[in-house]
Amino acid sequence: MEQTPLIEFQDIHKIYHMGDSEVRAADGVSFRIDRGEFVAIVGQSGSGKSTCMNIIGCLDVPTSGRYLLGGTDVSTIDEDAQASFRNTMLGFIFQQYNLLPRLSVQENVELSLLYAKVPPQERAERARQALSRVGLADKIHHLPSQLSGGQQQRVSIARALAGDPSIILADEPTGALDSGTSREVLDFLRQLHESGNTIVLITHDNAIAAEAQRIIRLADGKIVYDGSAVAAEQVQFAKGVVS
Ligand SMILES: Nc1ncnc2c1ncn2[C@@H]1O[C@H](COP(=O)(O)OP(=O)(O)OP(=O)(O)O)[C@@H](O)[C@H]1O
Ligand SMILES: [Mg+2]
Repeated sequence: MEQTPLIEFQDIHKIYHMGDSEVRAADGVSFRIDRGEFVAIVGQSGSGKSTCMNIIGCLDVPTSGRYLLGGTDVSTIDEDAQASFRNTMLGFIFQQYNLLPRLSVQENVELSLLYAKVPPQERAERARQALSRVGLADKIHHLPSQLSGGQQQRVSIARALAGDPSIILADEPTGALDSGTSREVLDFLRQLHESGNTIVLITHDNAIAAEAQRIIRLADGKIVYDGSAVAAEQVQFAKGVVS
């Protein structure tokens, strides 16, 4: 029997009305992502990447079309159930790390588990484990401002991991980092993929997208390529986009 895809978009549209004009941020997007895949969603600024990410992450709803998460049509469940889906199935990594400045590193990671109603002792333990996985066991009592950008991003990765999510969603995770630190974060995502995690990485950068197995390329809210990252590079090479 064919397994249920973890993520399935069926003809998703997201339309914004701005005065008389309309913006088709997602214009008939369909794809399936299976457990264990490492997919990059790429495209130029304004192509609809964050729109798709927000729908995948249950942070926004489509204008039309069906979004199935683990086989469940997200539009048919109420807001509480969506929030619970978000807390248990999804781990988010953003460009701006979104850490709370007055909470320690450990407390920041624990917070995501608090929302998922994990009891206090288990929260502390899981937060410590996640922080040691990203190499920050010795920084748990620091405030975010006392860490480098790369370390702050690792805290946000630990926060995503602590909930043991089915999917890790990363929107431009290296956007604010220098190339060396970006490398570390990408290596880390790759390790997570190798240990069985499903990763959806959003980026406008082709070199970063090439880290993934599969690339979904958007232009004007439509999919213009969906296939292996290696083949995508060859296509670009042929077009003279990269040399
Ligand atoms: N709330 C909104 N109201 C109106 N238009 C919007 C809204 N959000 C996004 N858009 C439009 O939808 C289109 C897709 O936006 P989206 O944020 O998904 O692009 P993106 O690929 O993530 O771009 P970037 O790389 O700059 O982050 C853009 O034309 C954008 O202006
Ligand atoms: Mg975006």
